[in-house]
Amino acid sequence: MFKRLSAKVYRIGRNYATVSKVKGYNVYGERVFKKGSKELRVWNPKKSKIAAAMMKNMPLEFINALENYDVMLYLGIANGTTASHFSDIAKEGALIYGVELSPRSIIDLTRLIETGRDNILPILANASYWNEYAGLVEQADILYVDIAQPNQTDIALVNADIFLKERGLLYLAIKTRSISITRKPQEVISQEINKIRKRGYKIKFQTRLDPWEKDHGFVIAQRL
Ligand SMILES: C[S@@+](CC[C@H](N)C(=O)[O-])C[C@H]1O[C@@H](n2cnc3c(N)ncnc32)[C@H](O)[C@@H]1O
Repeated sequence: MFKRLSAKVYRIGRNYATVSKVKGYNVYGERVFKKGSKELRVWNPKKSKIAAAMMKNMPLEFINALENYDVMLYLGIANGTTASHFSDIAKEGALIYGVELSPRSIIDLTRLIETGRDNILPILANASYWNEYAGLVEQADILYVDIAQPNQTDIALVNADIFLKERGLLYLAIKTRSISITRKPQEVISQEINKIRKRGYKIKFQTRLDPWEKDHGFVIAQRL
């Protein structure tokens, strides 16, 4: 029933799960399984877009990348649902800078960090104004973006140009309905992917997130 995929990611039946960094806590109502002295938190694809991408056969190398970076910049970290899994699997000494617009979400995120997730650093800021946090964050190996804005790809690309290291990876969730409610989701996804390509990034993986997230795309691109 349990299959180990990488250092801290397992499969439990069809689902993915992470080895919890903080035992005895369930972050967003996810199921927790015991395995020896470990606790495994199920990574719910309905609550976390990258978990949905994993269900759509995201290659293992992009899970490994989430276990081996030094610095991640996360735009739209919200109250830390997905970030809690990133926090579980990050290597010792890695740091996740989490940018979020909503003060309410930052309060919830701070509570989560206080339970023992000291590898997340919350930043209350608007990702459209990167200069607000440029003095706080380091160059990143991974840029994760999930902000559901009409100009989400442009915001992601400006931040990637400024903060992503050479060969660094951009993980971008595309909410097509924030970009256009009339155009076909696939048309919108293709348009956004073209923008990323034209900017000089190499598309490494792309998928739709249906049925877990309706009308969403998910893209991983590399800065060359
Ligand atoms: C879909 S939710 C993110 C969910 C989260 N990534 C997760 O998986 O746990 C989108 C978040 O982006 C935030 N957001 C939207 N526009 C933003 C911006 N320009 N700068 C920073 N955060 C933004 C919203 O406040 C919201 O919390």
